[in-house]
Amino acid sequence: MRICVLPGDGIGPEVTRAALHVLEAASARFELSVELDERPFGGAAIDATGHPFPDATRADAVLLGAVGGPSWNEASVRPEQGLLALRSVLGCYANVRPARRYTRHTTSPLREELVAGLDLVIVRELIGGIYFGDRGLGDEAAYDTCNYSAFEIRRIVERACVLAGRRSGRVTSVDKANVLATSKLWRRVASEVAERHPGVTLEHQLVDSMAMLLVERPAAYDVIVTENLFGDVLSDLAAAVSGGIGLAPSASLADGGPGIFEPIHGSAPDIAGTGRANPTGAILSIALLLDELGQPTAARAIERAVTGVLDDGARTPDLGGTATTDEVASEVADALSISASIAI
Ligand code: NAD
Ligand code: IPM
Ligand code: MN
Repeated sequence: MRICVLPGDGIGPEVTRAALHVLEAASARFELSVELDERPFGGAAIDATGHPFPDATRADAVLLGAVGGPSWNEASVRPEQGLLALRSVLGCYANVRPARRYTRHTTSPLREELVAGLDLVIVRELIGGIYFGDRGLGDEAAYDTCNYSAFEIRRIVERACVLAGRRSGRVTSVDKANVLATSKLWRRVASEVAERHPGVTLEHQLVDSMAMLLVERPAAYDVIVTENLFGDVLSDLAAAVSGGIGLAPSASLADGGPGIFEPIHGSAPDIAGTGRANPTGAILSIALLLDELGQPTAARAIERAVTGVLDDGARTPDLGGTATTDEVASEVADALSISASIAI
């Protein structure tokens, strides 16, 4: 497997190095053949080449850290534009963001009884909507536009229904159909798509009440499908509720071509360089990558190793521990190798 590695900015390179450490252990354990091609990306690439992203189309998958930071906030090209362009160029319209409990320790701000059994997936449309509409910025006025075609809605809801078919069959489609025209179309098309999936039950929720419900009873939801901006906001919320943003992985998938695998958090400039970054979201993104490249056994082994370490071993300060990013990665890598020697 040829993997294009884009560490990016802030804690991006720190969590990516940790994830690669675990990938190396998984490759040895499961005899995977992995070829890495590391490139500058985001702010780091703007500084090096003036261009925010490289050509990643020849890889089987892209492993990404995070981009952005205060040094480029006023720049004419922002690192975030590179991320959006990469997603769009690769046609990665389906952003899959699981929110689960990975440890028996309560790291959620919610009471234990509310998060017991929490295991949901947000399927976020990633290359349309208000992120990619026409926009303008003047001194006294500004605008952004949100567009969705039925085609764009159909393919993301289709993905959500297929995923739900392998889980509980329950899909919640989130919109703002009491106000937005794009949401009215979204709701109609979502209903049409779900009707073609007999094993799937679809419910609609307005995004404001969905935010409330994710706090009040997050364990009641399974697959949540929504547009780009709502998915961005709700996935940080779901990650926090499930135990912390440092835990949450994601896969951004196209119909053919490489997917992008990245933690959902950002470059965390407030803790960059301190060794406090939780690498779990990046490590679990490796598991999603291996799933996508047909290596589910290795993917499950990584998830088990992460749970073992978070339960009984190293944890970073965001989870109440004192371990560094590299210590967590080393323990997860060791847990993979030890499970290898037991198996032999
Ligand atoms: P952020 O996710 O970087 O940080 C939010 C808070 O969570 C901070 O307090 C941070 O310390 C903490 N945090 C995040 N990841 C953590 C981890 N792995 N371990 C421990 N703590 C963690 O969001 P922000 O501060 O709003 O954004 C910072 C920059 O990152 C901005 O430039 C933003 O555009 C960018 N960003 C990039 C991505 C991406 O590359 N996919 C995602 C989100 C934000
Ligand atoms: C994310 C991030 C990005 C987004 C930004 C950095 C463009 O917040 O991956 O969730 O909004 O999609
Ligand atoms: Mn986000």
